Amino acid sequence: MTRKIAIITGGSRGIGRAIALRLAKSGIDSILTYKTSQVQAGDVVNQIESLGARAVAVPLDVATRDSYMSFAAVARTALEKIGATNFDFLVNNAGIGLSQPFAETTEEQFDEMTHIHFKSVFFLSQTLLPLINDGGHIINISTGTSRFVLPGYSIYASLKTAVEGLTRYMAKELGPRKIRVNVVAPGATETEFRGGFIRNNPQFKKMMEANIALGRVGQADDIAGVVNALLSDDCYWVNGQRIEASGGQVL
Ligand SMILES: NC(=O)c1ccc[n+]([C@@H]2O[C@H](COP(=O)([O-])OP(=O)(O)OC[C@H]3O[C@@H](n4cnc5c(N)ncnc54)[C@H](OP(=O)(O)O)[C@@H]3O)[C@@H](O)[C@H]2O)c1
Repeated sequence: MTRKIAIITGGSRGIGRAIALRLAKSGIDSILTYKTSQVQAGDVVNQIESLGARAVAVPLDVATRDSYMSFAAVARTALEKIGATNFDFLVNNAGIGLSQPFAETTEEQFDEMTHIHFKSVFFLSQTLLPLINDGGHIINISTGTSRFVLPGYSIYASLKTAVEGLTRYMAKELGPRKIRVNVVAPGATETEFRGGFIRNNPQFKKMMEANIALGRVGQADDIAGVVNALLSDDCYWVNGQRIEASGGQVL
C-alpha cells in the first residue's frame, strides 16, 4: 500500500505538532510548516522519524499570500525528497488568538486575523489543489467559539465561522475529485495559544472547566486523535461537516 502524506500548517507546536505525531503513529508522513519555531519544528521531524515515518519542516507565514506559490514549489521538492509527487491530506491549522472587545478591535487587527484565519485557508488550499491526490482530505481547524460566544472573540470566531461555510463549499466543489473537506472545532485546549493563556491563568482555566461536561480543558492530543480518526477510511462517509472536539463545552 502506498504511504499517505499530510501537509500540516503550524506543525511546530500545539495542536499541529500533536496531529503530525499522531499521524506518524498511523504511518502517515508529513510536511509540517512553521513560522518562527524552526528548532521546535526540527524536533517534531526527529520525533516523527523515530516513530518510523518521514517528515520535512518548511517555513511558511500564512499571513503572506504572495508566499503560497513559492511554498507550493518548496512542497513539491519536499515531496520528491520523500519519494512522492503528490500528497493526500491538508490540515489548515496555523493560527493565532486575539481577545479584543468588538468595540476596540482595529482595522489592522481585523486585516491580520482575516489573512491568517480565512484568506490563508481559502488561497493556500486553492494553490495546493493541483498537488492533492484525488480521494484526498482537507481538514480546516475551527473553534468552539463559532458555536458559543466568548466575549473578546468577535473577529476570531467570525473568521472561523467563515471557514466553516467555506468548508461546505469546498466539499461540494471538490466532490467530483472525491476530496473530502471537514472542520474540526477544538474547544478550550491547553497549548501555547495566546501565549499559553489557559495554562498560565488558573482562574480562566477553572472557569472553562466548569463549562465542559467532561470536567477538564482539552490537550493537543485530544484534538489530534479526532483528526487522525477523521482521516481514516472508517470516516470516509463524513464530508462537509463540523466535528467539535471540546469535551462538551457549553452544552
Ligand atoms: N488552543 C485552543 O484553545 C484552541 C481552541 C480552538 C481552536 N484553536 C485553533 O487551533 C489551531 C492551532 O492552535 P494551537 O492551540 O496549537 O496554537 P499554538 O500552540 O500557539 O500553535 C500555533 C501554530 O501556528 C503557527 N503559526 C502562527 N501564526 C502563523 C502564521 N502567520 N503563519 C504560519 N504559521 C503560524 C505557529 O508557528 P510558529 O511556532 O513557528 O510561530 C504554531 O505552529 C489554531 O487555528 C487555533 O485557532 C485553538
